[in-house]
Amino acid sequence: MTESKQPQALLTGAERELQIYALGLSGGKPSVPVPLDLLDQKAKEILTPRAYDYVAGGAGGEDTMRANREAFYLWRIVPRMLRDVSKRDLSVELLGAWLPAPVLLGPVGVQEIVHNDADVASARAAASLGLPFVLSTVSSRSMEEVAQSAAKVAGSPRWFQLYWGKNAELTASMVQRAERAGYSALVVTLDTHSLGWRERDLHHGYLPFMLGQGLANYFSDPVFRGLLAQPPEQNPAAAVQLWGSLFSNAALTWKDIAFLRQHTHVPIILKGILHANDAARALDAGADALIVSNHGGRQVDGSVGALDALPGVVREVNGRVPVLFDSGIRRGADVFKALALGARAVLLGRLYMWGLAVAGEEGVRDVLLNLVADLDLTMALSGYTCCRELDASALCRCDSA
Ligand SMILES: Cc1cc2nc3c(=O)[nH]c(=O)nc-3n(C[C@H](O)[C@H](O)[C@H](O)COP(=O)(O)O)c2cc1C
Repeated sequence: MTESKQPQALLTGAERELQIYALGLSGGKPSVPVPLDLLDQKAKEILTPRAYDYVAGGAGGEDTMRANREAFYLWRIVPRMLRDVSKRDLSVELLGAWLPAPVLLGPVGVQEIVHNDADVASARAAASLGLPFVLSTVSSRSMEEVAQSAAKVAGSPRWFQLYWGKNAELTASMVQRAERAGYSALVVTLDTHSLGWRERDLHHGYLPFMLGQGLANYFSDPVFRGLLAQPPEQNPAAAVQLWGSLFSNAALTWKDIAFLRQHTHVPIILKGILHANDAARALDAGADALIVSNHGGRQVDGSVGALDALPGVVREVNGRVPVLFDSGIRRGADVFKALALGARAVLLGRLYMWGLAVAGEEGVRDVLLNLVADLDLTMALSGYTCCRELDASALCRCDSA
């Protein structure tokens, strides 16, 4: 890929369709299957069963994963006609930056189990289109390496996601490293102070961190390294053990958010909000944005579908900070519905992992281009030209379905 500082312009839906049909004329295909069941199936063929299950799986009987998708199904779009939709603008403002479309790549850890290029490939794909990338604490490459590699492609926002562990000095170190490396917001994930009961992973007896995967930010951290008798390169088992003892902290409460505020200047975004009362607490604690998410159904089985939680949180927040959304976004119609219910933008998880598995950086880019094209067409065909116009009047609820 040619390296450039300017993200490539996103194609409209019609342009992307033409591009794919033109490719078809010459016997070519995009790097990833367009139908999502085929994309998922292809990823499954490529990945080891345990890596596929680690990404695809959820907590318990995976009822929350089903609830996430069902919540989308119960809201239906009510298209409007004759409204001059010849020009669309999908851009949205978020924390002072303009995004070309309301889509971010959400934090997904241990991407090396999906593709060797891991987070670097995903971050570069996002940057090439000017879409923000959120790097997980448990990334496969260090936050500095990912930032440098993505910055060579184009300047687009990068955020750092924090798993807030037991060692305050280590937490402060990571947060400050992220700010120095140019991550312009801190996403604090609140729903993972323990790993959910994930039946597929337990069945395989597989947790990639125990193999030392996904720990690049720890192994490169001076505070973490200072806690070890020998460096991780010499004694990886001891390093993994230390990580296990520090990774999470179930004792945190709302008052602890102040600690993060003292250690970073960047906006703090709280991920994992589902209850309106927690949205109120988050605002009291000074959060700059919220992410309504149930972690893609990986934490609490039998939880509310994330989209069903969105309206209550949006009502409580009442425009004071942006509300973002993830958990179950697969197609343009899903993005449309989340925006209509009050989300400013959405984050992707598994969807871009399947693109990464199938075709690395190019696969992630193609998944993004397809999603944005699908959103653009959904907007146009439903009678809307920009994201701001969307509200609940664009939808109807079909509970009897
Ligand atoms: C394999 C995998 C790893 C994830 N790792 C993280 C992580 O490190 N930090 C985090 O905040 N969320 C993590 N998530 C959750 C995603 O950020 C997001 O909330 C979720 O994937 C959305 O659901 P969906 O993938 O069904 O759309 C992970 C999700 C998956 C599938």
